[in-house]
Amino acid sequence: MRIARRAERIEPFYVMEVAKAAQQLARDVARSDRPMIFLNIGEPDFTAPPLVREAAARAVSAGHTQYTNAMGLDSLRERIGGWYRQRFHLDVPASRIVVTAGASAALQLACLALVEAGDEILMPDPSYPCNRHFVSAAEGTAVLVPTTAQDRFQLSAAQVESHWNERTRGVLLASPSNPTGTSIDPAELRRIHEVVKARGGITLLDEIYLGLSYDERFGQSALALGDDVVSVNSFSKYFNMTGWRLGWLVVPPALVPVLERLAQNLFICPSTVSQHAALACFEPESIAEYERRRAEFKARRDFFIPALNELGLTVPVVPDGALYAWADCSSWCRKLGIGSSWEMAFEIMKRAHVAVTPGRDFGTAQTANFIRFSTASSMEHLREAVQRLKEMAP
Ligand SMILES: Cc1ncc(COP(=O)(O)O)c(C=O)c1O
Repeated sequence: MRIARRAERIEPFYVMEVAKAAQQLARDVARSDRPMIFLNIGEPDFTAPPLVREAAARAVSAGHTQYTNAMGLDSLRERIGGWYRQRFHLDVPASRIVVTAGASAALQLACLALVEAGDEILMPDPSYPCNRHFVSAAEGTAVLVPTTAQDRFQLSAAQVESHWNERTRGVLLASPSNPTGTSIDPAELRRIHEVVKARGGITLLDEIYLGLSYDERFGQSALALGDDVVSVNSFSKYFNMTGWRLGWLVVPPALVPVLERLAQNLFICPSTVSQHAALACFEPESIAEYERRRAEFKARRDFFIPALNELGLTVPVVPDGALYAWADCSSWCRKLGIGSSWEMAFEIMKRAHVAVTPGRDFGTAQTANFIRFSTASSMEHLREAVQRLKEMAP
Protein backbone atom coordinates (compact mmCIF):
# COMPACT_ATOMS: atom_id res chain seq x y z
CA MET A 1 0.00 0.00 0.00
CA ARG A 2 1.30 3.46 -0.84
CA ILE A 3 1.38 5.62 2.30
CA ALA A 4 1.27 9.41 2.01
CA ARG A 5 4.65 11.03 2.59
CA ARG A 6 3.14 13.30 5.25
CA ALA A 7 2.30 10.21 7.32
CA GLU A 8 5.68 8.58 6.69
CA ARG A 9 7.42 11.72 7.97
CA ILE A 10 5.82 11.38 11.42
CA GLU A 11 8.18 9.54 13.76
CA PRO A 12 6.83 7.18 16.40
CA PHE A 13 5.91 8.78 19.72
CA TYR A 14 8.68 6.98 21.63
CA VAL A 15 7.11 7.84 25.00
CA MET A 16 4.28 5.53 24.06
CA GLU A 17 6.63 2.88 22.60
CA VAL A 18 8.70 2.86 25.80
CA ALA A 19 5.47 2.77 27.81
CA LYS A 20 4.49 -0.42 25.95
CA ALA A 21 7.86 -1.99 26.83
CA ALA A 22 7.41 -0.89 30.46
CA GLN A 23 3.94 -2.48 30.59
CA GLN A 24 5.39 -5.71 29.23
CA LEU A 25 8.18 -5.73 31.79
CA ALA A 26 5.72 -4.78 34.53
CA ARG A 27 3.74 -7.96 33.79
CA ASP A 28 6.94 -10.00 34.16
CA VAL A 29 7.78 -8.46 37.54
CA ALA A 30 4.19 -8.22 38.80
CA ARG A 31 4.62 -11.13 41.15
CA SER A 32 7.99 -10.00 42.45
CA ASP A 33 8.27 -7.89 45.60
CA ARG A 34 9.13 -4.91 43.41
CA PRO A 35 6.26 -4.09 41.07
CA MET A 36 7.06 -1.48 38.44
CA ILE A 37 6.79 2.17 39.45
CA PHE A 38 5.65 4.18 36.45
CA LEU A 39 7.39 7.53 36.25
CA ASN A 40 7.26 7.61 32.47
CA ILE A 41 3.90 9.12 31.53
CA GLY A 42 2.95 12.76 32.10
CA GLU A 43 -0.56 12.11 33.23
CA PRO A 44 -1.90 13.30 36.60
CA ASP A 45 -2.53 10.37 38.92
CA PHE A 46 -5.69 12.13 40.14
CA THR A 47 -9.02 11.66 38.40
CA ALA A 48 -11.54 14.43 37.81
CA PRO A 49 -12.99 15.60 41.15
CA PRO A 50 -16.50 14.55 42.31
CA LEU A 51 -18.49 17.52 40.98
CA VAL A 52 -17.06 16.95 37.50
CA ARG A 53 -17.86 13.25 37.50
CA GLU A 54 -21.38 13.96 38.78
CA ALA A 55 -21.93 16.58 36.07
CA ALA A 56 -20.91 14.01 33.45
CA ALA A 57 -23.34 11.43 34.87
CA ARG A 58 -26.12 14.05 34.90
CA ALA A 59 -25.41 15.00 31.27
CA VAL A 60 -25.65 11.35 30.22
CA SER A 61 -28.89 10.64 32.08
CA ALA A 62 -30.48 13.89 30.87
CA GLY A 63 -29.59 12.94 27.30
CA HIS A 64 -27.27 15.90 26.74
CA THR A 65 -25.32 13.85 24.26
CA GLN A 66 -25.93 15.41 20.88
CA TYR A 67 -23.55 17.56 18.87
CA THR A 68 -22.80 21.01 20.21
CA ASN A 69 -21.66 24.08 18.32
CA ALA A 70 -18.26 23.39 16.69
CA MET A 71 -16.70 26.07 18.90
CA GLY A 72 -18.03 24.41 22.05
CA LEU A 73 -20.84 25.24 24.47
CA ASP A 74 -21.20 29.00 24.94
CA SER A 75 -21.50 28.44 28.70
CA LEU A 76 -18.15 26.61 28.75
CA ARG A 77 -16.43 29.30 26.69
CA GLU A 78 -17.76 31.87 29.18
CA ARG A 79 -16.47 29.83 32.11
CA ILE A 80 -13.02 29.50 30.54
CA GLY A 81 -13.03 33.28 30.02
CA GLY A 82 -13.94 33.65 33.70
CA TRP A 83 -10.99 31.47 34.67
CA TYR A 84 -8.58 33.79 32.83
CA ARG A 85 -10.15 36.74 34.68
CA GLN A 86 -10.00 35.09 38.08
CA ARG A 87 -6.65 33.34 37.91
CA PHE A 88 -4.62 35.54 35.54
CA HIS A 89 -6.46 38.89 35.72
CA LEU A 90 -6.82 38.80 31.94
CA ASP A 91 -9.84 39.82 29.94
CA VAL A 92 -10.30 37.04 27.37
CA PRO A 93 -13.71 37.28 25.67
CA ALA A 94 -15.54 33.99 25.13
CA SER A 95 -15.79 34.88 21.43
CA ARG A 96 -12.01 34.27 21.08
CA ILE A 97 -12.14 30.86 22.80
CA VAL A 98 -12.45 27.68 20.73
CA VAL A 99 -13.13 24.45 22.67
CA THR A 100 -11.42 21.40 21.16
CA ALA A 101 -10.76 17.68 21.67
CA GLY A 102 -7.75 18.29 23.90
CA ALA A 103 -4.75 20.50 23.26
CA SER A 104 -3.86 17.99 20.55
CA ALA A 105 -6.84 19.01 18.38
CA ALA A 106 -6.22 22.67 19.26
CA LEU A 107 -2.62 22.41 18.02
CA GLN A 108 -3.75 20.60 14.91
CA LEU A 109 -6.31 23.31 14.13
CA ALA A 110 -3.79 26.09 14.76
CA CYS A 111 -1.19 24.47 12.51
CA LEU A 112 -3.67 23.76 9.72
CA ALA A 113 -4.92 27.35 9.86
CA LEU A 114 -1.53 29.05 10.00
CA VAL A 115 1.15 26.87 8.42
CA GLU A 116 1.55 26.58 4.65
CA ALA A 117 3.55 23.88 2.86
CA GLY A 118 7.23 24.81 3.19
CA ASP A 119 6.76 27.20 6.13
CA GLU A 120 9.21 26.86 8.99
CA ILE A 121 8.26 27.04 12.65
CA LEU A 122 10.97 27.57 15.27
CA MET A 123 10.84 25.38 18.37
CA PRO A 124 13.17 24.64 21.24
CA ASP A 125 15.16 21.42 21.44
CA PRO A 126 14.10 19.69 23.70
CA SER A 127 10.34 20.02 23.24
CA TYR A 128 7.15 17.94 23.17
CA PRO A 129 7.49 15.72 20.08
CA CYS A 130 3.88 15.84 18.90
CA ASN A 131 4.12 19.61 18.46
CA ARG A 132 6.66 19.28 15.67
CA HIS A 133 4.54 16.56 14.12
CA PHE A 134 1.48 18.85 14.06
CA VAL A 135 3.61 21.23 12.02
CA SER A 136 4.76 18.51 9.63
CA ALA A 137 1.21 17.15 9.30
CA ALA A 138 0.37 20.66 7.99
CA GLU A 139 3.28 20.20 5.53
CA GLY A 140 5.46 22.71 7.35
CA THR A 141 8.90 22.15 8.84
CA ALA A 142 9.63 22.32 12.55
CA VAL A 143 13.10 23.80 13.03
CA LEU A 144 14.49 22.61 16.34
CA VAL A 145 16.88 25.10 17.90
CA PRO A 146 19.19 23.70 20.61
CA THR A 147 18.67 25.39 23.97
CA THR A 148 20.77 25.66 27.12
CA ALA A 149 20.14 25.39 30.83
CA GLN A 150 21.03 29.11 31.10
CA ASP A 151 17.98 29.86 28.92
CA ARG A 152 15.86 27.44 30.98
CA PHE A 153 15.84 25.10 27.93
CA GLN A 154 13.72 27.68 26.09
CA LEU A 155 14.38 29.79 23.00
CA SER A 156 15.91 33.23 23.42
CA ALA A 157 14.92 36.28 21.37
CA ALA A 158 18.46 36.34 19.93
CA GLN A 159 18.04 32.75 18.70
CA VAL A 160 14.66 33.55 17.14
CA GLU A 161 16.24 36.51 15.38
CA SER A 162 19.25 34.56 14.12
CA HIS A 163 17.23 31.56 12.89
CA TRP A 164 14.57 33.65 11.14
CA ASN A 165 14.60 33.48 7.34
CA GLU A 166 12.14 34.14 4.53
CA ARG A 167 10.42 30.79 5.10
CA THR A 168 9.95 31.27 8.86
CA ARG A 169 6.31 31.66 9.83
CA GLY A 170 6.60 31.87 13.61
CA VAL A 171 7.45 30.13 16.86
CA LEU A 172 5.77 27.33 18.77
CA LEU A 173 6.79 27.40 22.42
CA ALA A 174 5.55 25.43 25.41
CA SER A 175 5.68 27.20 28.75
CA PRO A 176 5.99 25.44 31.17
CA SER A 177 7.64 22.91 28.91
CA ASN A 178 7.39 19.19 28.50
CA PRO A 179 9.98 17.59 29.10
CA THR A 180 11.75 20.19 31.28
CA GLY A 181 8.95 21.73 33.36
CA THR A 182 10.63 25.10 32.86
CA SER A 183 8.94 28.28 31.65
CA ILE A 184 10.24 31.07 29.47
CA ASP A 185 11.53 34.02 31.43
CA PRO A 186 8.72 36.65 31.09
CA ALA A 187 11.07 39.41 29.88
CA GLU A 188 12.57 37.06 27.27
CA LEU A 189 9.11 36.04 26.10
CA ARG A 190 8.23 39.72 25.63
CA ARG A 191 11.36 40.15 23.50
CA ILE A 192 10.59 37.01 21.47
CA HIS A 193 7.09 38.30 20.83
CA GLU A 194 8.49 41.65 19.63
CA VAL A 195 10.93 39.92 17.27
CA VAL A 196 8.19 37.71 15.83
CA LYS A 197 5.64 40.50 15.54
CA ALA A 198 8.14 42.81 13.80
CA ARG A 199 8.51 40.09 11.15
CA GLY A 200 4.79 39.55 10.71
CA GLY A 201 5.02 36.06 12.25
CA ILE A 202 2.88 34.19 14.75
CA THR A 203 3.61 33.54 18.41
CA LEU A 204 1.99 30.23 19.26
CA LEU A 205 2.14 29.17 22.88
CA ASP A 206 1.33 25.74 24.24
CA GLU A 207 0.22 26.64 27.77
CA ILE A 208 -1.21 23.26 28.70
CA TYR A 209 0.82 23.23 31.97
CA LEU A 210 0.16 26.86 32.89
CA GLY A 211 -2.34 25.85 35.58
CA LEU A 212 0.36 23.68 37.16
CA SER A 213 2.73 26.53 37.91
CA TYR A 214 4.66 26.64 41.19
CA ASP A 215 6.43 29.96 40.90
CA GLU A 216 4.61 33.28 40.59
CA ARG A 217 7.45 34.75 38.57
CA PHE A 218 6.52 32.48 35.65
CA GLY A 219 2.83 31.68 36.07
CA GLN A 220 1.37 34.29 33.66
CA SER A 221 -0.25 33.55 30.30
CA ALA A 222 1.40 34.87 27.14
CA LEU A 223 -2.05 36.22 26.27
CA ALA A 224 -1.06 39.22 28.41
CA LEU A 225 1.29 40.23 25.58
CA GLY A 226 -1.51 41.03 23.14
CA ASP A 227 -4.45 39.80 21.08
CA ASP A 228 -2.20 38.45 18.32
CA VAL A 229 -0.83 35.63 20.52
CA VAL A 230 -2.36 32.19 19.98
CA SER A 231 -2.55 30.17 23.21
CA VAL A 232 -3.37 26.47 23.45
CA ASN A 233 -4.64 25.00 26.72
CA SER A 234 -6.29 21.86 28.01
CA PHE A 235 -8.42 20.19 30.63
CA SER A 236 -5.90 17.32 30.69
CA LYS A 237 -3.32 18.46 33.22
CA TYR A 238 -4.42 21.04 35.84
CA PHE A 239 -8.03 19.85 35.55
CA ASN A 240 -7.02 16.15 35.64
CA MET A 241 -9.18 15.15 32.66
CA THR A 242 -6.74 13.47 30.26
CA GLY A 243 -9.04 10.81 28.86
CA TRP A 244 -12.02 13.15 28.52
CA ARG A 245 -10.30 14.75 25.52
CA LEU A 246 -11.04 18.39 26.06
CA GLY A 247 -8.97 21.51 25.56
CA TRP A 248 -9.21 24.94 24.00
CA LEU A 249 -7.41 27.71 22.18
CA VAL A 250 -7.55 31.46 22.50
CA VAL A 251 -7.02 33.10 19.12
CA PRO A 252 -6.98 36.57 17.54
CA PRO A 253 -10.50 37.63 16.41
CA ALA A 254 -9.62 37.25 12.70
CA LEU A 255 -8.79 33.59 13.23
CA VAL A 256 -12.09 32.67 14.89
CA PRO A 257 -14.20 32.11 11.71
CA VAL A 258 -11.30 30.22 10.08
CA LEU A 259 -10.99 27.82 13.01
CA GLU A 260 -14.75 27.45 13.19
CA ARG A 261 -14.83 26.33 9.56
CA LEU A 262 -11.98 23.90 10.09
CA ALA A 263 -13.42 22.54 13.35
CA GLN A 264 -16.88 22.05 11.78
CA ASN A 265 -15.36 20.00 8.99
CA LEU A 266 -12.70 18.06 10.88
CA PHE A 267 -14.33 17.33 14.22
CA ILE A 268 -17.96 18.60 14.15
CA CYS A 269 -17.60 19.35 17.87
CA PRO A 270 -15.70 18.31 21.00
CA SER A 271 -17.24 15.63 23.23
CA THR A 272 -20.57 16.91 24.51
CA VAL A 273 -20.53 14.91 27.74
CA SER A 274 -17.01 16.10 28.54
CA GLN A 275 -18.03 19.70 27.91
CA HIS A 276 -20.96 19.44 30.33
CA ALA A 277 -18.67 17.83 32.89
CA ALA A 278 -16.00 20.51 32.44
CA LEU A 279 -18.47 23.24 33.42
CA ALA A 280 -18.14 21.90 36.97
CA CYS A 281 -14.34 22.35 36.94
CA PHE A 282 -14.84 26.02 37.67
CA GLU A 283 -17.06 25.59 40.73
CA PRO A 284 -15.28 26.89 43.86
CA GLU A 285 -15.29 23.37 45.37
CA SER A 286 -13.52 21.93 42.31
CA ILE A 287 -11.01 24.79 42.10
CA ALA A 288 -10.21 24.31 45.79
CA GLU A 289 -9.51 20.63 45.08
CA TYR A 290 -7.35 21.49 42.06
CA GLU A 291 -5.37 23.90 44.18
CA ARG A 292 -4.80 21.21 46.83
CA ARG A 293 -3.54 18.92 44.08
CA ARG A 294 -1.30 21.64 42.68
CA ALA A 295 0.25 21.99 46.16
CA GLU A 296 0.76 18.22 46.19
CA PHE A 297 2.54 18.33 42.80
CA LYS A 298 4.76 21.11 44.12
CA ALA A 299 5.58 19.09 47.27
CA ARG A 300 6.56 16.14 45.06
CA ARG A 301 8.83 18.37 42.99
CA ASP A 302 10.40 19.74 46.16
CA PHE A 303 11.19 16.22 47.33
CA PHE A 304 12.15 14.62 44.05
CA ILE A 305 14.47 17.15 42.37
CA PRO A 306 16.98 17.42 45.26
CA ALA A 307 16.87 13.62 45.62
CA LEU A 308 17.81 13.16 41.93
CA ASN A 309 20.59 15.74 42.23
CA GLU A 310 21.98 13.86 45.20
CA LEU A 311 21.99 10.63 43.19
CA GLY A 312 24.01 12.23 40.40
CA LEU A 313 21.03 12.42 38.05
CA THR A 314 21.40 16.16 37.88
CA VAL A 315 18.43 18.37 37.06
CA PRO A 316 20.10 21.51 35.65
CA VAL A 317 17.08 23.82 36.02
CA VAL A 318 14.50 23.46 38.78
CA PRO A 319 11.14 23.06 37.04
CA ASP A 320 8.75 25.89 37.87
CA GLY A 321 5.71 23.99 36.65
CA ALA A 322 4.32 20.84 35.00
CA LEU A 323 5.03 17.28 36.16
CA TYR A 324 8.55 16.51 35.07
CA ALA A 325 12.20 16.25 36.03
CA TRP A 326 14.62 16.52 33.09
CA ALA A 327 17.68 14.78 34.47
CA ASP A 328 21.19 14.52 33.03
CA CYS A 329 22.19 10.87 33.23
CA SER A 330 25.54 11.23 31.42
CA SER A 331 27.64 10.61 34.52
CA TRP A 332 25.66 7.43 35.25
CA CYS A 333 26.15 6.38 31.60
CA ARG A 334 29.88 6.93 31.85
CA LYS A 335 30.30 5.15 35.16
CA LEU A 336 28.08 2.20 34.23
CA GLY A 337 29.45 1.91 30.70
CA ILE A 338 26.05 2.57 29.12
CA GLY A 339 25.92 4.24 25.69
CA SER A 340 23.07 6.73 25.98
CA SER A 341 19.93 7.73 27.84
CA TRP A 342 17.95 5.34 25.61
CA GLU A 343 19.80 2.28 26.97
CA MET A 344 19.89 3.86 30.44
CA ALA A 345 16.09 4.13 30.48
CA PHE A 346 15.79 0.38 29.81
CA GLU A 347 18.53 -0.39 32.34
CA ILE A 348 16.68 1.57 35.04
CA MET A 349 13.45 -0.14 34.06
CA LYS A 350 15.03 -3.62 34.29
CA ARG A 351 17.20 -3.14 37.36
CA ALA A 352 15.22 -0.72 39.53
CA HIS A 353 11.75 -1.49 38.13
CA VAL A 354 11.21 2.22 37.65
CA ALA A 355 9.81 3.19 34.24
CA VAL A 356 11.25 6.42 32.83
CA THR A 357 11.32 8.11 29.42
CA PRO A 358 14.55 8.49 27.45
CA GLY A 359 15.32 11.91 26.00
CA ARG A 360 15.20 10.70 22.38
CA ASP A 361 11.59 11.77 21.78
CA PHE A 362 12.20 15.38 22.58
CA GLY A 363 14.89 16.38 20.11
CA THR A 364 18.45 15.62 19.11
CA ALA A 365 20.74 18.24 20.64
CA GLN A 366 21.52 16.80 24.08
CA THR A 367 18.77 14.30 24.44
CA ALA A 368 21.11 11.28 24.49
CA ASN A 369 22.25 12.59 27.90
CA PHE A 370 18.83 13.12 29.43
CA ILE A 371 15.97 11.11 30.81
CA ARG A 372 12.58 12.43 31.81
CA PHE A 373 10.94 11.44 35.05
CA SER A 374 7.29 12.23 35.61
CA THR A 375 6.32 13.31 39.12
CA ALA A 376 2.67 12.49 38.48
CA SER A 377 2.91 9.65 40.97
CA SER A 378 2.26 9.47 44.70
CA MET A 379 4.88 10.64 47.18
CA GLU A 380 5.11 7.05 48.42
CA HIS A 381 6.01 5.88 44.90
CA LEU A 382 8.51 8.68 44.44
CA ARG A 383 10.23 7.80 47.74
CA GLU A 384 10.38 4.13 46.77
CA ALA A 385 11.73 5.05 43.31
CA VAL A 386 14.49 7.14 44.88
CA GLN A 387 15.39 4.24 47.18
CA ARG A 388 15.63 1.84 44.24
CA LEU A 389 17.69 4.29 42.17
CA LYS A 390 20.01 4.68 45.16
CA GLU A 391 20.59 0.95 45.10
CA MET A 392 21.70 0.98 41.47
CA ALA A 393 23.56 4.32 41.61
CA PRO A 394 27.19 3.99 40.40
C1 LIG B 1 3.30 20.11 25.96
C2 LIG B 1 2.07 19.31 25.63
N1 LIG B 1 1.21 19.77 24.72
C3 LIG B 1 0.10 19.07 24.38
C4 LIG B 1 -0.20 17.86 24.97
C5 LIG B 1 -1.45 17.13 24.55
O1 LIG B 1 -2.43 17.24 25.55
P1 LIG B 1 -3.97 16.89 25.41
O2 LIG B 1 -4.22 15.73 26.31
O3 LIG B 1 -4.72 18.12 25.89
O4 LIG B 1 -4.26 16.61 23.99
C6 LIG B 1 0.67 17.33 25.94
C7 LIG B 1 0.41 16.03 26.56
O5 LIG B 1 1.16 15.50 27.34
C8 LIG B 1 1.84 18.08 26.28
O6 LIG B 1 2.71 17.63 27.18
